[in-house]
Amino acid sequence: MPHPDYVRVDAFLADAIGARALATAFELGIIDRLVASDAAQALPGRVDAAGAALLLGALRASGVLAPGADLRLSASFCEALRYRDLLEAKLAMLDLVGPDFLELFTALIVDPARFQRSARLFELFSYDRARDPTPENLAHVSRWVRFTSALTRHEAPVLLDVADLSACQHLLDVGGNSGEFAAQACDRHPGLRATVLDLPVVCHLGERHVARLTSAARIGFVPAGESDTPFPGAPDAIVFKSMLHDWPDAQALGFLHRARAALAPGGRVWILERAAPVEGGFAWGALPVALFFRSYRRAGDYRALLDAAGFGTMRFSQVELDMPFHVIEAGA
Ligand SMILES: C[S@@+](CC[C@H](N)C(=O)[O-])C[C@H]1O[C@@H](n2cnc3c(N)ncnc32)[C@H](O)[C@@H]1O
Repeated sequence: MPHPDYVRVDAFLADAIGARALATAFELGIIDRLVASDAAQALPGRVDAAGAALLLGALRASGVLAPGADLRLSASFCEALRYRDLLEAKLAMLDLVGPDFLELFTALIVDPARFQRSARLFELFSYDRARDPTPENLAHVSRWVRFTSALTRHEAPVLLDVADLSACQHLLDVGGNSGEFAAQACDRHPGLRATVLDLPVVCHLGERHVARLTSAARIGFVPAGESDTPFPGAPDAIVFKSMLHDWPDAQALGFLHRARAALAPGGRVWILERAAPVEGGFAWGALPVALFFRSYRRAGDYRALLDAAGFGTMRFSQVELDMPFHVIEAGA
């Protein structure tokens, strides 16, 4: 199965040196000046000759710069720059989780609980910071919402080709984050309206995110209540995208029970999730999603959960995104 086009950004994040050199080139404005074909001024005055040689050498080695003496971007990097939002969001996340990998990989393998306590990844994604919309929490949560939104912006078109919502009228996106997936679903289906259920701080950020989009009037945000609060409305489509893997089986089952109880007659649930197993050989750029490898499930795990929640019909498929992704559809 071919990878979608946006995955081409990963070629420039394959190793830590290339990725960090690229982040520096963005920070110093080098990429912008080269895009504007300003090779003569591409390097800021504060970069000395030795620094320039090292940085440009790393950028040539990773394929960002074309080979040869001229200072210009390679054709393949220019193609990847069409996904600049994703490239920059991944680079920002790698700066954060790179040290987790370097300092804590042994703990990740032998003592996952210690990894979870110590890793900056889990501190960043702490849902405790997503409840009270203080300015500090909004700033903190917006860092990871930027990352999840950038991923979803590019994943959603592929997933919506497979998860067919054309017959649906009301979508509930549980853990729908900034509303990016809901907005793309509404753009694709003019008769659809969507409710995003997420934590209060995320809902605040999501309202801002969708406000500038054409489908804004058809998207509402509902702050998530306690774990026994019924889901809002009677949606005929409920999506869990990259959401259930955050939860152990008991809580994931709780979400699926609530989904089944809320669904309108004939409605469907879609589980859109990275698939286990994540095996060796992942690239540096995949770290932010690969470090959650213990959380991803196999198709059979989701079958058992859906069974236990009382779903009768299920359809399983997979698409290849940055890694294999389940597209699971279930009905009562
Ligand atoms: C890994 S993110 C995935 C977000 C988005 N669906 C995506 O694919 O990018 C998980 C989402 O679940 C949300 N979440 C966490 N606890 C929740 C709860 N109890 N109810 C609803 N959403 C929740 C988080 O705030 C976050 O937006």
